[in-house]
Amino acid sequence: MTTKTASTTARPADPCCLVIFGASGDLTHRLLVPALYNLGAAGLLPKDFALIGVARSESSNEAFRDDLAKSLPKFATRQVDEAVARQVLACVGYVQGEPDDPKTYDKIARELARIEGERATKGNRLFYLATPPVAFAPIGCHLGQSGLARQENGAWRRVIVEKPFGRDLASARALNQKLLSVLNEDQIFRIDHYLGKETVQNILVLRFANGLFEPIWNRDHIDHVQITVAEALTVGRRGGYYDATGALRDMVPNHLFQLLSLIAMEPPARFAADAVRAEKAELLDSIQLPTNGEALRNSVRAQYGEGYIDNRAVESYRDTKNVAPDSTTETYAALKLVIDNWRWAGVPFYLRTGKALRAKRTEVAIKFKQAPIAMFRDTPIDRLAQNFLVLGIQPNECIGLEFNAKVPGPSIAIGGVGMTFKYEDYFDSAPSTGYETLIYDCMIGDAILYPRADGIEAGWRVVQPFLDAWREAGGQGLTNYRAGSEGPAEADRLLAEDGRRWRAIA
Ligand code: BG6
Repeated sequence: MTTKTASTTARPADPCCLVIFGASGDLTHRLLVPALYNLGAAGLLPKDFALIGVARSESSNEAFRDDLAKSLPKFATRQVDEAVARQVLACVGYVQGEPDDPKTYDKIARELARIEGERATKGNRLFYLATPPVAFAPIGCHLGQSGLARQENGAWRRVIVEKPFGRDLASARALNQKLLSVLNEDQIFRIDHYLGKETVQNILVLRFANGLFEPIWNRDHIDHVQITVAEALTVGRRGGYYDATGALRDMVPNHLFQLLSLIAMEPPARFAADAVRAEKAELLDSIQLPTNGEALRNSVRAQYGEGYIDNRAVESYRDTKNVAPDSTTETYAALKLVIDNWRWAGVPFYLRTGKALRAKRTEVAIKFKQAPIAMFRDTPIDRLAQNFLVLGIQPNECIGLEFNAKVPGPSIAIGGVGMTFKYEDYFDSAPSTGYETLIYDCMIGDAILYPRADGIEAGWRVVQPFLDAWREAGGQGLTNYRAGSEGPAEADRLLAEDGRRWRAIA
């Protein structure tokens, strides 16, 4: 077997200054700076690069730079080479200010003028909104109104908006409207870190760079699809955020719908941002919106109780700090969705996600229809293995095919077997934070991995009937599962009613 180093013809990104709002937070230290370091190590960061941090706390250019340099080795995904770290942090500025105070933007303008005079960043600016979501609209509006984000003299100005993008359809629409009143759509990059995962990006390649799959990728051959994003992590210290959010909002309209739309979209005319994003939005638009009753029948929501994960005792969700003791927020959600188009009519898509489950496992499993088994009727075969194509996203990055084969011997005995392609067997790839490609793409202006306003709203439109039905039902219908288990029994029933069952979360 040959191992191929991921060959890349990528050029260094455009010279630019990255301005991070929320710079003193976790995201900057844990993910963004380590990702910039990895880009630097791969030769993809521009030579003329500068970084400005914006946050509420008092600090100085030097102190902020030292702070980043100190935390980098702690969070880097590889051994830190001092020379690369020096290059990445060669030009660092800091601005103290409130996100909603116009004076903050005057200070940023002054700092940008100083840095743009010193470094040849060509006036290109990338603003990264790594703040709590309440600050997205005010920052976006100030950037627009102050002129800091105005594209002029050949310089680009782009804004990355972190998740969550809204908390329902109305708020997502309102945020889009606000941002679009001061920025153009092609300046707004709504980030979803799932799209930074290699295996997620590979779904497009698997489907459209191989002639093998497309002819069978439809209701004639596919029985159903299961999308699982299971986490062994509990809510931990995020009780306050999580209790106001829940599993559905936290994971489904963004991460699970990204997986769903890549799996089910029609082939785009070109491998280009607008063509791909239009097909993804169209797919989400084709999902049947359930009535209130259907939403309740086709969904399961549950909370974890106490239990054990990896032999470690876990407290129940309601006992978690900052979680209401009578909370009805779900930590597990399962949905059955129906896509109303010619390719998928009659093929259910089952989605599930939850915290404090037996193991971390993200996968998409495509179940093919059963072969007519009449041919083997007289042989001692009681159950054939099911044909699954499984795309493993994490922790194992792999693609597996499960099928039947003859057990060696004089009689016809059939056993389930599998073939698995593992990324690590073919490609050398340095561990990454998952943000590298996303930041790099934004710096070169490629929005293929970033959803457009229509895609975001189409996702919320599908989730909204479930949110409404659950809100109206209150605590009724909310069930429980033991921490460390595979989820609630009701989720098994959701599939059992259709004569199907979930794959194991192992
Ligand atoms: C985040 C959610 O967006 O994704 C978290 O807010 C969740 O609750 C995380 O744990 C999962 O990401 P990953 O990459 O670990 O699957």
